[in-house]
Amino acid sequence: MNKPTEKPKTPHFASGPCAKRPGWDGSYAYLTRGRSHRSQLGKDRLNEVLLRSRRVLGIPDDYLIGLVPASDTGAVEMVLWNFLGARGVDVFAWESFGLDWVRDIQEELKIKDVKAYIADYGDLPNLSQADPTRDIVFTWNGTTSGVCVPDGDWISDTRTGLTICDATSANIYDLPWSKLDVTTYSWQKVMGGEAQHGIVVMSPRAMERLDNYQPPWPIPKLFRLKQFRDIYTGVTINTPSMLCVEDVLDALDWIEKSGGAQAMCLRLDKNLQVHDKWVWGTSWLEYFVAREDIRSKTSVCLKVVANWFQEETEEKQRTILKEMVSIVEAEGAGFDFNNHKAAPPSLRIWSGITIEAEDLEKLYPWIEYAYNIIRDKYKK
Ligand SMILES: Cc1ncc(COP(=O)(O)O)c(C=O)c1O
Repeated sequence: MNKPTEKPKTPHFASGPCAKRPGWDGSYAYLTRGRSHRSQLGKDRLNEVLLRSRRVLGIPDDYLIGLVPASDTGAVEMVLWNFLGARGVDVFAWESFGLDWVRDIQEELKIKDVKAYIADYGDLPNLSQADPTRDIVFTWNGTTSGVCVPDGDWISDTRTGLTICDATSANIYDLPWSKLDVTTYSWQKVMGGEAQHGIVVMSPRAMERLDNYQPPWPIPKLFRLKQFRDIYTGVTINTPSMLCVEDVLDALDWIEKSGGAQAMCLRLDKNLQVHDKWVWGTSWLEYFVAREDIRSKTSVCLKVVANWFQEETEEKQRTILKEMVSIVEAEGAGFDFNNHKAAPPSLRIWSGITIEAEDLEKLYPWIEYAYNIIRDKYKK
């Protein structure tokens, strides 16, 4: 195969920090430069993030939204530490991040009454096992396996426990909020924003738990949601980066000007069409997730199925994939699309709203080109 001639305009395919929005140039006004987050101007900008996030994501008026430290991990752990322990917990996991939450619940919080439902990479546990009288913890989109919850139908409308959802790499533009009591995400994935800030969205039932329940374990200051109830008005627990705040406002502005949530969902569909075309037309490549209904549209994971590759050890497969990605990176045609080290050897191409379908179109010939090189080198 000849070397492709065209390269993606934006060759950024990492799953976090993810590509910036099309047209991003970092030239926003940065109104709060040198100003305190506690100044009226600072508070107004922080509040603007919450207002616009609600509008863009269709978050119900009676849900509260707060900005918290330490990215999605900070948000999830803050939530686990504040809410759990009041009743039994059902936790569902199918890749490394979900497994981290299982570990936190069982080994750090040491909650006794825990049922952990765990599936292998590429699969989803049977979600219908969720007991509506217990708290339910799950990840909407398992980034490292590319397995995504298909819908919220398995969550009871009359549940008495809380649902706690790590939605950081989900298509948050299309979430069934009435099924979610506590939802977390960060800006660097689905917004194309910057890392180290997390968002927590809470239903009225979640707020009721927060107000009336005191967990038996210590809560460090950074996790004290109760004490910092004002976070829902743009007050923060500690000092946020106001530059990151301007950056996410820029992203939210772009989303609204581009047609909002509906348009964002269409962008994901358009990206998926490109993947479908290449994956179905390429004999050595397959989706890592066999079931179409649970396949992620944001973190698209792919595996090499050629016999010669499959016959290699897992360690060798990892080396080969690393080399393949490096070939594309050396050409500046696509960066960071090797999968997470915790996942089985595979590729992972972030395909969220900030990725242009035309760029995916241009990436694939480079992947094919790199594949041919490594096949010629390693096939016995
Ligand atoms: C599902 C999931 N949860 C949590 C995290 C951790 O996110 P952060 O780095 O924002 O803390 C990630 C990161 O990729 C993730 O994919």
